[in-house]
Amino acid sequence: MRTIDWNKESKTIMMIDQTLLPKEYRVIECATLSSLCEAIKTLRVRGAPALGAAGGFGVALAATLSSAIAMDGLIKDMNVAARTIKATRPTAVNLAWGVDRVMHAISDAYDVDGIRDIAISEAVRIAEEDVLINKKIGLYGAKLLDDGDTVMTHCNAGRLACVDWGTALGVIRSAVETGKEIKVIACETRPLNQGSRITTWELMQDNIPVTLITDSMSGHVMRERMVDKVIVGADRITEDVVFNKIGTYTHSVIAKEHEIPFYVAAPISTFDFKGWEGSVRIELRKPDELRFFGNEQLAPSDVPVYNPAFDVTPMENITAIITERGVFHPPFLLDEVLA
Ligand code: MRU
Repeated sequence: MRTIDWNKESKTIMMIDQTLLPKEYRVIECATLSSLCEAIKTLRVRGAPALGAAGGFGVALAATLSSAIAMDGLIKDMNVAARTIKATRPTAVNLAWGVDRVMHAISDAYDVDGIRDIAISEAVRIAEEDVLINKKIGLYGAKLLDDGDTVMTHCNAGRLACVDWGTALGVIRSAVETGKEIKVIACETRPLNQGSRITTWELMQDNIPVTLITDSMSGHVMRERMVDKVIVGADRITEDVVFNKIGTYTHSVIAKEHEIPFYVAAPISTFDFKGWEGSVRIELRKPDELRFFGNEQLAPSDVPVYNPAFDVTPMENITAIITERGVFHPPFLLDEVLA
């Protein structure tokens, strides 16, 4: 199934529980707002575009669950849900974007049934569009890859970070589809290991050759010329920087030092047209994510920990940004991206 989907019969949200991969593939159902928020906070569903869909479905779920019989009551309930969903993870702009898009769409409704119907159909549309957008990103990006390339990636910007296909991994999938032989180096992506748990699993399912390295090996493999290109996703793109999984900045500096092209693949919904580096809150996650691995203790249980989920890569380290509207080279002017 897709990473996240709407169950038409039960009017609930279905998703692949990404915290269990690769040990177990399990589809879970979110039938309440609190279960959805818990799933977002704990990264059962994660990745910027998938969070966009989760945000949209979340508001649709709130509309379905509300017992309000008047329009203002229903809209009030949905606004409360919208705020709650947006607060679960602050950095990936797509989450708020998905919520706002559904909230905006319901302004066309003239009764409570209309609000509920529009909320569901808009959320479903967001999910459908995400797949088409990723295919377009893939088509544009595939042209940047040469037959025989080895591409390094970080975190998971694959089908499990989206509704389907993927952004960074979508580019690789599309290149493979055109007959190019592409090998991937996946960085494990401490502390939650989206790279080792999810990216490797996804690529192996598709028989795309992948080799796992620790994050700290990226300098070595780039210096040894084992990497032709780097492609990562993004959680938020402002005019000056790209926010992506912690570790991305380090890879970009090393790639620049070794003149290895460094690409960011992301939908337009990841662009934050009003923001800049200082305006965005980087999510700080729990210290125990570093002190423990599952139940395994890795550090003194009271050691002070700094655990930002994302870092910031300046535009000067980026060769091009691959979107559904084409490939943009520096300087990245938002007006041009939108034109
Ligand atoms: O904390 P996560 O797993 O949600 O972070 C995901 C990333 O940083 C991805 O690289 C990013 O969202 C791009 S996904 C297409």
